[in-house]
Amino acid sequence: MNIIENWSTTDKALYGKTVQTKTHNLQKTGLFTDDALAALLDRHPDNKIDVCTMSDDPVYPDKHCTVDFRGYSGKQLIEAAKAGHIWINIREAMNIDPAYKHLLAETFDDLEECTGQNRFRKNSRGGILISSPSAKVPYHCDPTMTMLWHIRGRKRVYVYPATQKFLPDDAYEAVLLGEQDQDIPYRKEFDKSAKVYDLPDNTLVCWPHTSPHRVENQSYCVSMVMEFSSKESALRNSVMYTNGLLRRHLGLSPRWDESTAIGRFFKSIIGHFFRRIGLHKTHIRHDFVRFRINPNEKNYLSSVPSFIRKF
Ligand SMILES: [Fe+2]
Repeated sequence: MNIIENWSTTDKALYGKTVQTKTHNLQKTGLFTDDALAALLDRHPDNKIDVCTMSDDPVYPDKHCTVDFRGYSGKQLIEAAKAGHIWINIREAMNIDPAYKHLLAETFDDLEECTGQNRFRKNSRGGILISSPSAKVPYHCDPTMTMLWHIRGRKRVYVYPATQKFLPDDAYEAVLLGEQDQDIPYRKEFDKSAKVYDLPDNTLVCWPHTSPHRVENQSYCVSMVMEFSSKESALRNSVMYTNGLLRRHLGLSPRWDESTAIGRFFKSIIGHFFRRIGLHKTHIRHDFVRFRINPNEKNYLSSVPSFIRKF
């Protein structure tokens, strides 16, 4: 089945080099209706579902905070997404669930056919996002190749250039080394350089690897997010991992955009090796739960005394 529509040879040439939007027909499968998603939420393991709300902290605006959703049915969680202020990520739904996994495989096959590029299949993941009209995702970058397959609702996406100004090497290294999550320093003036898309139903958006981005919903939304590695993303991550170690342990100031092909090749081998042996101790960040779903409250949320997520 052709999932991506009207993909041209020009699209193929531009893939990975610029931001692209295309229409797709995932919605025709019937797997993304509210009823289908409520049933999926009921059978998907709790530890692979994230329900978050957005912080109003002025220092970390819109940072996602974990919500305890246990005890609520899929139908109730969909209601909470429609009327409340939450973001649901059904992680790896498209990898694990028998009703969805064939569709993920077909989608990747179609993507490979369109782009002419192979992914590293073992790292491929597909999650489903269900989010409130007021939901946002803060400015961040993804170490994997990421594609947003928007399915229903209106979603505004800001994509920023993957340059030193918007994503300093040091900040990206910190993400790879596990020193911080994927949120990176943001300034409002960055928006002047962003490409902004108001995505209608059935729109795929993809961007060059590491491009910072953020999202502002305009209505209740359902989307699929696809993550995978490519040869280029794996190379860059291994090199940047090595650069991060050199900066932190030897006080050097390496730059990705000033490195040579041969330098990248050797650094990628070193980085791959050090990542495997876990040379750099990653910081363990606990996932603190600060809210729970409560249909009787405004935004469907109540505050709870903070505790570490164990579900
Ligand atoms: Fe992202």
